[in-house]
Amino acid sequence: MKITVIGAGNVGATAAQRIAEKEFANEVVLVDVIEGMPQGKGLDMYESAPIEGFDSRVIGTNSFDQTANSEIVLITAGIARKPGMSRDDLQATNANIVKTVTQQAVAKSPQAILIVVSNPLDVMTYVAKKVSGFERHRVIGMAGVLDSARFRTFISMELNVSVEDISAFVLGGHGDSMVPLPRYSTVAGIPLPDLMDKATIERLVKRTRDGGIEIVNFLKTGSAYYAPSAAAVEMIESIVKDKKRILPCAAWLEGEYGLKDVYCGVPIKIGRKGMEEIIQIKLTPEEQTALNKSAEDVRANIAKLNI
Ligand code: NAI
Ligand code: 2OP
Repeated sequence: MKITVIGAGNVGATAAQRIAEKEFANEVVLVDVIEGMPQGKGLDMYESAPIEGFDSRVIGTNSFDQTANSEIVLITAGIARKPGMSRDDLQATNANIVKTVTQQAVAKSPQAILIVVSNPLDVMTYVAKKVSGFERHRVIGMAGVLDSARFRTFISMELNVSVEDISAFVLGGHGDSMVPLPRYSTVAGIPLPDLMDKATIERLVKRTRDGGIEIVNFLKTGSAYYAPSAAAVEMIESIVKDKKRILPCAAWLEGEYGLKDVYCGVPIKIGRKGMEEIIQIKLTPEEQTALNKSAEDVRANIAKLNI
């Protein structure tokens, strides 16, 4: 298994380290435009191998030559938010970056599965799909795993129970109109509405929606990366081990959930072939309306693209 991580910044470097430490690939290639930076980070990571006890080879480079024949390509290149910026403010800059790196990556790894992280997530995943020309099962966006992890964390903090017993689903686009689903969120199988009053759920839902900006406002110079990299690597693990996890991911919809020709976060089965199935769960009319609105927000941003 060979995995390329494009963008050796906060998310990319942390993801590469997690991939190497978990030995999900024999070779992890870290690419960035900044001269020397991926080489330095890659070597530094590789030098942690004897201590951490992993045999994944980590290579940092400015060239895509060394990425050839990667099975998975994780795209994290682009600028991140600063206080006062929305994810959509990144669109024009990141569309060009994601376009360029996708072209370079797929030229070397035409069989790869692409996982996109760069923001605005759903629109950048569309850019990667359009530029690569890959089938939809090979171009997936990471957001729902992160947003759901945030919701799970806040539920755990509220109830003072282990995060391990909490599962949660956040669907929709990775933006202000994302759709946390309390009915499908459970603690040891018990639905959230049986454990908390409506006002508490609403408070946690709002904190989840604002989860990205909460971190940006603390960091001031960038955005979250520990949880985002863990989320991307959870998707990668399911592919590498063909686990067929059911995870909320940005998928290209072709009629599922009544939505067509748009990327939107929905539960998918993720395995060795990439997205192996879109799981359709029954939504209430209110949930469906919220999902429609979220998908329309993504569609409106896709329409602004000039690629
Ligand atoms: P960062 O600024 O730390 O790293 C980005 C890296 O991309 C930089 O090192 C930069 O040199 C590199 N880069 C820029 N153009 C490139 C090119 N043409 N080729 C190769 N590398 C290039 O940013 P961070 O924190 O790692 O975030 C990366 C992206 O991921 C941002 O757009 C951010 O908004 C997004 N993000 C998305 C999340 C999600 O849930 N989908 C979660 C967290 C971040
Ligand atoms: C987040 O939600 C920046 O989109 C990223 O943290």
